[in-house]
Amino acid sequence: MYRGYKYFEVIEKHAGLLGILTAIMVSLGGLAEITPLFIAAHKVEAAPGVKPYDALRLAGKDIYVREGCYLCHSQMIRALQAETERYGHYSIASESVYDRPFQWGSKRTGPDLARIGGKYSDEWQRVHLKAPRSVAPDSNMPGYPWLSQALVDPVETTKKMKVLRMLGDPYTDADIAGAGAAVSGQTEMDAIVAYLQGLGIANEPQAVAKDAAAPAEGATP
Ligand code: HEC
Repeated sequence: MYRGYKYFEVIEKHAGLLGILTAIMVSLGGLAEITPLFIAAHKVEAAPGVKPYDALRLAGKDIYVREGCYLCHSQMIRALQAETERYGHYSIASESVYDRPFQWGSKRTGPDLARIGGKYSDEWQRVHLKAPRSVAPDSNMPGYPWLSQALVDPVETTKKMKVLRMLGDPYTDADIAGAGAAVSGQTEMDAIVAYLQGLGIANEPQAVAKDAAAPAEGATP
C-alpha cells in the first residue's frame, strides 16, 4: 500500500477533521475566484461622457431610490438582441461608477430605464409621474403627486456632494459651492425629471463608437 495513505486514512476516518480541511480548501478556492473581482471593481473608470451627477440630478437620484422606483424598474440593458433593439446599447459597468447604490436590478414590472433620457418631453414625465394612467391607461404604476409639492433641501444636497467627494467623486469646489443655489426652490418633481432625462444620455457606448467611426469631413468614403 502507498506509504502516504496513512495520512489520508486519518482524514477520511475523522469527519470533523475532514470537514475543517474541506472548509479551508473551499475558502482558498473562493478567495482565488473573488479577490481578483474585488480588485477589478475598483479599477472600473467612468466611460467617456459619464460625469458625476450635478446637484439637481443627484437629488433626483436619491428621490428615485427613496420612492422605490427600482422595485419595478431595472437600469440594466442585457446583451441580448431583443433588449438592445428595444432599449439601446447594453449597459456596461463604467456607466454606473457614480451610482451609489447602483440601480441595475432585474425586476421589470415596468420597462428598463437605463436609457430613458430624452425619450419623452419633461412635460410627459411630469404628467406620467403624477398620474400614470392619464397617459398610459393600462399602467399599474402608482402616481407620485406629492413630488410636485415637496422642495429639494439645498443644505442636504450640498452635504451629500461633500461626502461623495470624500468617496472619490471628482466634484470641484465650484460644483459644491453652487449646489445649494442649483437646487433651491426646485421641487422634487423637477429633480426626478432632471434625473430621468439624463439617464443614458452622453454615455451610450454606441454613440461614442459611432462618432469615432464617422468619416472626417471632406474625406472620400
Ligand atoms: C408598481 C410598479 C412601478 C413602480 C413602483 C414604478 N413604476 Fe414606472 N412604470 C411601471 C409600468 C408598469 C410602466 C409601463 C406603463 C406606463 O408607462 O405607465 C412604467 C413606466 C414608466 C416610465 C416610462 C417608461 C417608458 O419607456 O415608456 C417611466 C419614465 C417610469 N415608469 C418612471 C418611474 C419612476 C421615476 C418611478 C418612481 C418614482 C416609477 N416609475 C415607479 C411600473 C412602476
